[in-house]
Amino acid sequence: MQIAIDGPAGAGKSTIAKIIAKELGILYLDTGAMYRAITYGIWKNKIDFSDQKAIADFTKENTIDFKGTDVYLSGEKVTEEIRLPIVSRHTSDVACIGEVRRLLVGQQQSIAGCHSVIMDGRDIGSVVLPKADYKFYLDASIDERARRRAIEQQARGIDQDFDSIRESIAVRDYNDSHRDEGPLVCTEDAIVVDTTGKSIEEVCQVILDNIRGGK
Ligand code: C5P
Repeated sequence: MQIAIDGPAGAGKSTIAKIIAKELGILYLDTGAMYRAITYGIWKNKIDFSDQKAIADFTKENTIDFKGTDVYLSGEKVTEEIRLPIVSRHTSDVACIGEVRRLLVGQQQSIAGCHSVIMDGRDIGSVVLPKADYKFYLDASIDERARRRAIEQQARGIDQDFDSIRESIAVRDYNDSHRDEGPLVCTEDAIVVDTTGKSIEEVCQVILDNIRGGK
């Protein structure tokens, strides 16, 4: 089984996808964490964010692994670091590089080739799993998305004010929707779920009802 979940930053994709994966007993793959891990590595190694060749080479030479809820970049645990504001700010610079996308999309597709999976990202229904059994597009107002992200960052102990989170989300949405390769799109066959004002349980119910052939 393949389930694709796309949508803008902070729409609740990863929270929802994790719960659905557990409920259905399938693998959850956070594709955003892969782009974030590469971005963190680029920043840590002081590679220039405008040097697309060096970024593509770094992507080729390094590995990304998931163990439980942890993310590893070439063996180094980077679970917390990939959520730093500096990483969020630069991930769309890395994610717009065609070669980086081809490499990561290839890895995502090979994982989907041997596991039932729910993946969340921006290009899952359009590029990574165009034949997914179920496609969902999660959305919410920008203020609600920024509020959710602020709560998440606080829980992680990262001090970032609401306005800078809102601004960073708006810039990322623009960049993600306007790049040439794998832009954020809502495919025609996706079920759109507006999560504004909905609880996590309500959103999960809508998705599970659809998957189980209910509403
Ligand atoms: O999902 P998350 O907000 O963690 O993703 C971080 C960034 O990674 C996105 O803003 C986007 O630039 C990039 N991304 C992407 N394609 C995906 C998943 C994430 O370009 N499938």
